[in-house]
Amino acid sequence: MTSNLIVGLETTFCQDLPSKLDKLYEERISCIVAPLFHPRFRRDANVISDNRDGPETRSDLVLDSRGWTSSVVGLLSTWVDFDSSCELIRLTAEKVFKQEIAWASHLSLAAVMTPSLHATRSNANYARLLNQAATQAQYTQFWVKVPLYYPGKFDEDDPSFVETWEGWNSLRSMCEYNSKIYVALEITADLPDKRILDRWLGEPIAAVIIPTEIFLTNKKGYPTLSKMHQKFFLQLFQHKIRYFIKGRPYHHGRYLPYVQYLEHLWSTRSSCSDAKADFEAPYLDYLQAPLQPLMDNLESQTYETFEQDPVKYQQYEIAITQALADTPKDKVSIVMVVGAGRGPLVRCSLRAAEKAQRTIKMYAVEKNPNAVITLRNMKISEKWDNVKIIASDMRVWKAPEKADIMVSELLGSFGDNELSPECLDGAQAFLHENGISIPCRYTSFVAPISSSKLWNEVKSLKSVQSTHLKNFETPYVVRLHQIYSFARPQPCFTFDHPNRDTIIDNRRFHQLSFEVQENGVLHGLAGYFDSVLYGDTCISINPETLDLSPGMFSWFPIFFPLRTPLQVREGDLIDVCFWRQVGGGKVWYEWTVGINNTNWSPIHNPNGRSYWIGL
Ligand SMILES: C[S@@+](CC[C@H](N)C(=O)[O-])C[C@H]1O[C@@H](n2cnc3c(N)ncnc32)[C@H](O)[C@@H]1O
Ligand SMILES: *[C@@H]1O[C@H](CO)[C@@H](O)[C@H](O)[C@H]1NC(C)=O
Repeated sequence: MTSNLIVGLETTFCQDLPSKLDKLYEERISCIVAPLFHPRFRRDANVISDNRDGPETRSDLVLDSRGWTSSVVGLLSTWVDFDSSCELIRLTAEKVFKQEIAWASHLSLAAVMTPSLHATRSNANYARLLNQAATQAQYTQFWVKVPLYYPGKFDEDDPSFVETWEGWNSLRSMCEYNSKIYVALEITADLPDKRILDRWLGEPIAAVIIPTEIFLTNKKGYPTLSKMHQKFFLQLFQHKIRYFIKGRPYHHGRYLPYVQYLEHLWSTRSSCSDAKADFEAPYLDYLQAPLQPLMDNLESQTYETFEQDPVKYQQYEIAITQALADTPKDKVSIVMVVGAGRGPLVRCSLRAAEKAQRTIKMYAVEKNPNAVITLRNMKISEKWDNVKIIASDMRVWKAPEKADIMVSELLGSFGDNELSPECLDGAQAFLHENGISIPCRYTSFVAPISSSKLWNEVKSLKSVQSTHLKNFETPYVVRLHQIYSFARPQPCFTFDHPNRDTIIDNRRFHQLSFEVQENGVLHGLAGYFDSVLYGDTCISINPETLDLSPGMFSWFPIFFPLRTPLQVREGDLIDVCFWRQVGGGKVWYEWTVGINNTNWSPIHNPNGRSYWIGL
């Protein structure tokens, strides 16, 4: 979530940038997209300006370097044709491109806006030039101008026909998803289907261009946008994007009314002041390595973060209360919290006993010696007279009696990925044969997603120990944001507790199949989980069932990347195979993806070579 709205203006050439900028500031416009070279200054490959005496563009001295970097986006000449079949035109285009990029880089511009794609050609030479420039650039970003529709070609009957996403997709694929190449999305008066708009939200949009012509006029004579446009803008406002007005100011001859309208719309976006959104804001699309809960000991900070969740413990308290209420009134129930951490579930259990009016005797088992110190202090300060603190691994502890209710929270973003199954299978040795496990079930969910942002984040991870391959065979915990989901999540692995199978096997294999609704690029798989704590009390981070525990923020989703992005088309079936493997003191996942049961990707993470969780 960005904290403020940045509005700029796309202009035709202006010689006197400083005074233009000064005037625009008064209309609350803080940056400008302006041609780098004068549009009338045509050049060709043979005579490139050298025989002219006058300057080809305004001097760099009109602004200081801060002014250039913060207020100006350079617009490349649009009269060029990179993919012309005429060699002279093509070579001219290349020369102009290089000259203008060199000038932009001399000025240290933060971004240049590059011309729209050709509607019918391959744009291959354009891609080559852009890729070369983006690979060499230090800081400059390249914003490729893409309208939602090719101009003048909107077709009511077949709106997808002239839709522009395909052109953009080919271009950036040829540029190997270069992370310096972004979209400058130009809004059109007609909007495509919601699905197509949603797909754009998974693309790296740096800028949105808003022609003044798309505004309607309200009763008072001020500019306003259609309901459809408003909805799309509210979605765009969730991302870090700059907005550029373009065209003549039809309303009152000024830009201010347009800016005011955008500011008004911005102020109506769903308030991000709830606890969950506040908590998540800094983590949007930020990759984190999943925890190693058994091999490592969690830090105090990490516990503190869990404990801030307002919903998770509430759900546990309800579940424990229900479970206790289902026991006979006069019975003293043994409640064990296994993996007690700094004690929040012990507190939940004590409160639940009061609510259910039951007497309980408790054990709090924890293997992290540092958390045990907290528990022992709490026993005194909170007068936990009926609680015994046990410093032990639950898999090896010899309990003096059996539990009626065993409470744990060993869940990861993918349910079983923090080895809850293995830990609870060990602990159930001291669960009464009619005993209850809270949670009693958890299920992981998988959905195929597009996100060049996340894929590029994985690609750019650098560290001494890890290789490119390793980074692409590791799942990441991440608050997914700039993504497009091809289909609804489907269930993958389920675990039930207690597990009374005679031979317990926690290996799993599951094959899933998703139907693609829109052409797109598959970058990886999103993982989620839900869990039944007890009865009908659940927690969920599956986007389809968030209302089972609304406002819960303890878990972000998990992202399994693909080494190579896969182009998928409407009607294709995305096949996914997922394995949970156990062996040699380790647990790991392997995954592969195919289209229509062919074209399978290499199996990722064979034998846990890149990523595993230690038992
Ligand atoms: C995700 S934390 C939950 C902590 C606390 N119950 C809460 O809800 O805030 C899981 C805890 O289980 C502990 N744990 C994990 N595996 C364990 C094992 N095999 N034996 C004992 N404790 C374990 C970890 O040290 C950690 O404190
Ligand atoms: C996959 O199968 C669907 C349905 O039969 C078909 O429409 C689509 O063209 C196929 N895609 C490929 C890449 O073969």
